[in-house]
Amino acid sequence: MDIGRQLDLRMATGDGENSYASNSTIPMKAILQARPLLEKATEELYKSLPLRSTMVVADLGCSSGPNTLLVVSEVMSTICDFVRETDDHRGLELQFFLNDLPGNDFNLIFRMLEQIQNRATKEDKMATPPYYIAGLPGSFYRRLFPCQSVHLFNSSFSLMWLSKVPEDLSRGTHPNEGNIYIGKATPPVVVKLFQEQFRKDFELFLMLRYTELVCGGRMLLTFIGRKSEDMLMHGDVASMWELLAEALQTMIQKGRVKQEELTSFNIPYYAPSLDEVKALIKQTGLFDVELIELFESSWDPQDDDSSSEVVFDCASSGKNVAKCIRAVIGPLIMDHFSEAILDELFMEYASVVAKHLMKGKAKYPIILVSLKTDVH
Ligand SMILES: C[S@@+](CC[C@H](N)C(=O)[O-])C[C@H]1O[C@@H](n2cnc3c(N)ncnc32)[C@H](O)[C@@H]1O
Repeated sequence: MDIGRQLDLRMATGDGENSYASNSTIPMKAILQARPLLEKATEELYKSLPLRSTMVVADLGCSSGPNTLLVVSEVMSTICDFVRETDDHRGLELQFFLNDLPGNDFNLIFRMLEQIQNRATKEDKMATPPYYIAGLPGSFYRRLFPCQSVHLFNSSFSLMWLSKVPEDLSRGTHPNEGNIYIGKATPPVVVKLFQEQFRKDFELFLMLRYTELVCGGRMLLTFIGRKSEDMLMHGDVASMWELLAEALQTMIQKGRVKQEELTSFNIPYYAPSLDEVKALIKQTGLFDVELIELFESSWDPQDDDSSSEVVFDCASSGKNVAKCIRAVIGPLIMDHFSEAILDELFMEYASVVAKHLMKGKAKYPIILVSLKTDVH
C-alpha cells in the first residue's frame, strides 16, 4: 500500500451500526474532558472582540457524527450563557468551519446541522448571535485559511494521524515485518521513521495554524499519546495495533489475506509522549502553553469505572473495542485488503482483544494541549 501518495483516510461513513458516528464515544469523553478549557477560551475571545465583529472558529478533523456538532454547540452555549449572565450582546456574528479530509462524510454533517437548531430553546435563540456553519474539505497539513483570520482552532482525536506513512516504509526500504505500526519487533530505524514523520507534521501544523490565527488566537488540541518515553515499549496504543496485526496474521493462516498484503500495510499514525509534544511546541517558539496534560480513557467506551483495573466481562469489552477500531480503521483495511474480510477480521480482533484484557484494563493515554498565540 502506498498510503504516502494516496491517503484516503476517513472514518466509517453514515450513521449505521459500524459507522464512526455510532462508535465515537471515546473521543466524545475527551471533548467533554477538554470542555472547561474550550469554555474559557471561547469566553475570553468573545470578551476581547470589538463590537459588531465576526468570531471565526474551526474544528480540524471534525469527522462526521455527534462529536462534530458537539464542539459547535459547546462554543454556542458558552456564548449564550455569557450573554444571559452579563447582557453583553456585542452584536457579534459567529462563523464555524468544519474541516476534514475530502473522503469525510460531510453530507451526514449537513443533515445533522438541523439538530442544533431544533435543540435550542426560544431563550437560547434570543441570546445566540447569528451563526454560519461551513464544511471545509482539505488536509490540516496544508494552509486552510487566510492569514490572521481565525480566532479559535479545536482539534479532537485527529493529530495522531500523520500526513502519510513514512516514505522509506511505504517504499519498502525498511521492512516492518508482521506489524502495522510500532510493535515489539519493529526495528529501531522504523521507529525513528514514524517519530520523524510526526515531528515534521506537528511542526508544520503549528506553523500553519500560527499563520492563520489572529493575535491572541487560541488552539485546543486533544490527541492520543503514550505514557512511556521508551520508544520500543510503546504501551497500550502500540498493543492496540499489534493485536490488529495479530488478527491479520490469523487471516493469513486461514488463507483470507496474503502475507505480502500485510507486509505492505502500515498505518499513518504516531502516538507521541508528553515530553515530545512539549519539546516540539517549545522548539517552534510560536505559542504560549496554557496547559498541557495527559489523562487516560479505557479502551472500552462503555467502561466509565475508573476505580477498578479489572475487566469484568472481557468478551463483551473485546467486542466494544473492536467496534470502535473498525469504525476508525475499517475504511483503510477495506481499501488495502478487501471489504469482504471486515466482519471476520473484527470478530477475530474482538477475541484477541478479549484475551489481552484478561491481563487487566487497557487505556488510551490522551494528550490535552491549550495554546495561545503570542503577539505576532
Ligand atoms: C478519530 S476521528 C476524530 C473526529 C472528531 N474530531 C471526534 O473527536 O470525534 C479523526 C478525524 O481526523 C481526520 N483527519 C486525519 N488526518 C487529517 C488531515 N490531515 N486533515 C484533516 N482531517 C484529518 C480523519 O479523517 C478523521 O475524521
